[in-house]
Amino acid sequence: MIDQSTFGKMPDGTIVEQFCLTNSHNVSIEILNLGGIIRRWLIPNNKNARTDIVLGFDTVNDYLSDDSYLGALVGRYANRIGQGKFSLAGSDYQTDINLGDNCLHGGSHGFNSKVWQSTVLSSDDNPSIMLQLFSPDGDQGFPGALSVKVIYTLTEHNRLKIEYFATADHTTLYNPTNHSYFNLSGHDSGSVKTHQIQILASHFTPTDEHAIPIGEMADVDKTPFDLRSLTTISQSLDSDHQQIEYGKGLDHNLCLDAYDSQSKVATFAGKAEADDINLKIYTNMPGIQLFTANHFANKKGKNGASYQAHQGVCFETQFYPDTPNQPNFPSATLRAGKEFYSVTEYEVLFKEHSF
Ligand code: GAL
Repeated sequence: MIDQSTFGKMPDGTIVEQFCLTNSHNVSIEILNLGGIIRRWLIPNNKNARTDIVLGFDTVNDYLSDDSYLGALVGRYANRIGQGKFSLAGSDYQTDINLGDNCLHGGSHGFNSKVWQSTVLSSDDNPSIMLQLFSPDGDQGFPGALSVKVIYTLTEHNRLKIEYFATADHTTLYNPTNHSYFNLSGHDSGSVKTHQIQILASHFTPTDEHAIPIGEMADVDKTPFDLRSLTTISQSLDSDHQQIEYGKGLDHNLCLDAYDSQSKVATFAGKAEADDINLKIYTNMPGIQLFTANHFANKKGKNGASYQAHQGVCFETQFYPDTPNQPNFPSATLRAGKEFYSVTEYEVLFKEHSF
């Protein structure tokens, strides 16, 4: 089932629509056509209610004035490009610079801040919506006109499937992701430090102090990035490893060992005492930027919540950061006329409760 309603208005008066996708297990996911933002993700709990497992805001203005990309689709290039400079097909490009000296998440006016064209594809058993956006040649300094499409489907298996499609008329870069912050005890429940994470990655990409990769794919062995078995987040966050100090927490790309979209690449498990919600992640992208909301402080969230550092975790499936400047990283180049496709699925496992 899909319920469509008005969420608010952009500063120019454009209406922002909200689509609430619900399946027969009483899981609901609310998605805005503004930035494809996942605003609420409701899972039935044992208190005869539903737990909202993603951080979000109440108004359009809250989303537009914040720099944390809560729940949003990110593009053209998720993560950083060093100094916003790269060479592609014999030409040099300079993108918009919006974080220090670097380009973050596609520049100041990224896909997260745009109202996308929306179409309901199915409102039956596996509710599905399609969002489309046209990014003109030179948008934020990136080459080529790019047409992008994202399909969100909530399946009967409690998976949110996110499919990304794109084509360009000129060779360009494309590295999309979704930037949801998960907290399996509820968005307003405080820190996730006692949650557990597993990521099937034997390498990570160490960075300089500005989160730009230094070019290495380092072994995770004996580092806070060894999450190959289920690990309590505080173990990594409390480490005095220089990389953790740089980011004031986890804010790193892990290089997935296998990424065929069928095999699970990551698990996120709730606090031991309330351990009845688990998240499993599947993708065909080579990396996951793991980010633990390190800079949050008294951020005014949904329904009067106040978000603090480490209140949520992002599993941003993507190419590695700064790939156009790192020849040994998997390439994020999209050739003119070729169809880009990637898929990420977030599966929520929970004990079914009757209402
Ligand atoms: C993450 C990034 C962080 C921070 C965040 C947005 O993807 O790695 O450093 O910029 O987005 O607040």
